[in-house]
Amino acid sequence: MGGLKKPLRILFLSSEVAPFAKTGGLADVAGSLPDAVKRQGAEVSIALPFYRVTREGAFSAQPLFSGLRVPLGGATLGGHVLQAHTKEGVPVYLFEREDLFDRPNLYATSEGDYYDNLERFVYFTRAALLFLKHMGSPVDVIHCHDWQTGLVPAYLKTVYRDDPLLGSTATLFTIHNIGYQGLFPQEKLAVCGLPPRVLHMEGLEYWGQISLLKAGIVYADALTTVSPSYAREIQTPEFGLGMEGILQKRVKDLHGILNGADYDLWSPDKDPDIPYPYDEHRLEEKARNKAALLDEVGLKESVRDRPLFGMISRLSAQKGCDLLVQVMEDIIGLGAGLVILGSGEEKYQTLLEKAARRDPGNLSLRIGFDESLAHRIMAGADVLLLPSRYEPCGLTQMYALKYGTVPLVRATGGLDDTIVPFDPETKQGNGFKFGPYKADALMGAVKQAIRHYQDPATWQGLMRNGMAEDFSWDRSAQRYLDLYQSILSA
Ligand code: ADP
Ligand code: GLC
Repeated sequence: MGGLKKPLRILFLSSEVAPFAKTGGLADVAGSLPDAVKRQGAEVSIALPFYRVTREGAFSAQPLFSGLRVPLGGATLGGHVLQAHTKEGVPVYLFEREDLFDRPNLYATSEGDYYDNLERFVYFTRAALLFLKHMGSPVDVIHCHDWQTGLVPAYLKTVYRDDPLLGSTATLFTIHNIGYQGLFPQEKLAVCGLPPRVLHMEGLEYWGQISLLKAGIVYADALTTVSPSYAREIQTPEFGLGMEGILQKRVKDLHGILNGADYDLWSPDKDPDIPYPYDEHRLEEKARNKAALLDEVGLKESVRDRPLFGMISRLSAQKGCDLLVQVMEDIIGLGAGLVILGSGEEKYQTLLEKAARRDPGNLSLRIGFDESLAHRIMAGADVLLLPSRYEPCGLTQMYALKYGTVPLVRATGGLDDTIVPFDPETKQGNGFKFGPYKADALMGAVKQAIRHYQDPATWQGLMRNGMAEDFSWDRSAQRYLDLYQSILSA
């Protein structure tokens, strides 16, 4: 950025930001991209709700403001703002309101979504806008993420269109997953505080409901999603899940920008969660991590000499759990070990638990969200399985590459953009890939992986190919910066 130009001011709005609150990759992105954008010279801040996990986490958050007055339906709610910082000093504004956010989980319990998610995220987003007004410090762009923040572009184009502070603020809306659409009954429009005229097919209306995701898609100045392939896919009926029509209308403003990996958090040479640090020159240390992991998760010692497949995932249809259930025993039948760390839908937990009970020495299942174990699986496994039905970007395959853990992925979305199938002739490639969402296609790739694993020289070459890849954030951050600039000059 030129020395004399005023830095761009960007506010990130996200319902989860690592390490403050995380259920998946959105938190990783919202925790790392702001720092990377700051490194490019922008002035950055972040806003997210102050959840129970955030309060209980090891962060220092200072009270900043207590005078929030947030309209919600017919009522006006108070609330507090606390301030913390990212590791690069980006201010993080935490919106506290006990009755809405001091709960065991971020969005749902095992029974389903919280009944008042609309109220919760209307409150959060309106509070964030009102806080900007209160501070008297405008930003150039509000970068919104996923349905929870989808109303912000709508507010700026309606309620705050002529506001002296917010009226000229631009918005970028990033779709991390089109499967989560923020759907609520139409009658709840009043809770949002938007004028009734937004309720039509080219507005918030979605098959008789309102969609907060659609609000973001319709009203933001520009749209991104998290890989070039997914940007194309979501314009088709198969992947667009009903949003393809409205996305096609906005195709000129829709960009696919691949996520990055934060190598400060995901590098085997400086990972505090793994027992034996290593890099491409010390691959024998990876074997020690594998042995320690087998011990930790209760797998047979003999798996040391056999390929260990790992999976770290939300348990949902998106992630290919039904395919996984179909092939688990076959993978073990080929002599491999399998360790799965997952949390999510009960239906998949039950199916996996049933299968896991049959051969505990070769198959270990950990149900739960365990950040630290995720790192040890990343370091200890030989292959990381990602049989996703669809995958907007996927971060774990990028982390796996850095750990010399070879990704085995289905060719979809960001998995297709980041993984190049290994070619034994040229020795090029960084993983294994299969196309059709079918058990035999997946097993074909598994057999290939096991075959190459038997030849240590080939396998080490493949590991090194992955470890040499660079998916760090800086390139993508530069693309976001260019996009912020282009919206502002449009
Ligand atoms: P998604 O956001 O769709 O879940 P990503 O690959 O983008 O998928 O990101 C998933 C993130 O969540 C990664 O950081 C991964 O390590 C982490 N993760 C997923 N499941 C678990 C789990 N059960 N325990 C710990 N970390 C998990
Ligand atoms: C979503 C997607 C995942 C992506 C993540 C971060 O949760 O499912 O593919 O990596 O967001 O953008």
